[in-house]
Amino acid sequence: MLKRLQFSFPGLFQAFLLSYGLLIINSSIAQEVNPLEGDPRASRIGGSLFRAQCATCHGPDARGIDSIDAPDLTLIYSREGVNDQSVFQVIREGIPGSIMPPHTFQDVEVWMLVSYLRSVAVAGASIAIDGDSRRGLSLFNENCAHCHRVNGRGGSLGPDLSTITTRRTQDALVNSIRDPSANIARRYKPVTLVTMNNQLIQGTIKSEDAFSIQIMDSNQSLRGFKKLSLQDVIHEEISLMPGFTESDLSSNEINDILSFLQSAQ
Ligand code: HEC
Ligand code: HEC
Repeated sequence: MLKRLQFSFPGLFQAFLLSYGLLIINSSIAQEVNPLEGDPRASRIGGSLFRAQCATCHGPDARGIDSIDAPDLTLIYSREGVNDQSVFQVIREGIPGSIMPPHTFQDVEVWMLVSYLRSVAVAGASIAIDGDSRRGLSLFNENCAHCHRVNGRGGSLGPDLSTITTRRTQDALVNSIRDPSANIARRYKPVTLVTMNNQLIQGTIKSEDAFSIQIMDSNQSLRGFKKLSLQDVIHEEISLMPGFTESDLSSNEINDILSFLQSAQ
């Protein structure tokens, strides 16, 4: 392990070990606070480690690779219950039952990866969105609630939006509404199934392996199929969410909806 690292990051890593390594290697249990927090070198070296060890699955910028279902890691910190300690644990132990492998890094290396992931974490819309949240509520009910839940009410063809404003920037949210197909949310990939008697079933993929596929169909029922019982499984590029143009919803109306979503969280 050390040999490999010294080979790939000679000077930097040695300097790092000198200043921090001994201290960390001596403590055998993982601590709750990242001991390297705030040190820019940690996230820099962590970034190199990441590109060498993790990027094949999570992408060079940690934004995930959908075709293998490896998640966007810039979003994990905005989830409740996720902190440096829990991310440390996942990197160390992997996720059983998935292709996310355990890693035999030293603690100091794991903390450098944690520092890197912190440095690329996307913050949600932290400032108050300027809009009329009461008008937003009725616009939401008219245009969105059929497919999206907020605080337990609404449809479930699309993701629950109760806390979306804490996880996405305002720009990203506007883009999702204007042009949903540009960046389709994970676990909501559109698919068309062709049955043996040529019936077409549209839906979003909940899980899929070589032999079977589970979808939520456009009537919002969860359904499972054996692939052998289907004529075709067509992975679509167009989201099941319609794009909302300026004439469907003005920019002000979108801000009203976002302001409602922000007030609802
Ligand atoms: C072989 C592919 C693969 C490699 C290599 C890999 N990962 Fe993963 N990782 C995954 C997959 C797939 C998941 C999602 C597993 C699941 O939720 O079922 C995941 C999940 C995670 C999670 C949890 C994400 C969440 O939503 O909570 C973290 C953190 C993570 N990986 C970090 C890393 C780091 C850091 C490395 C490199 C040291 C790495 N992974 C290497 C495939 C990989
Ligand atoms: C016909 C169902 C449908 C309607 C109507 C709909 N959506 Fe969606 N929405 C989806 C689906 C499916 C996805 C997930 C796929 C994707 O990202 O395009 C989605 C994704 C999103 C996302 C991205 C979520 C994420 O995790 O990044 C946002 C934001 C969103 N919708 C907001 C809205 C708003 C606001 C409205 C009303 C103006 C609306 N949607 C109307 C089905 C719908």
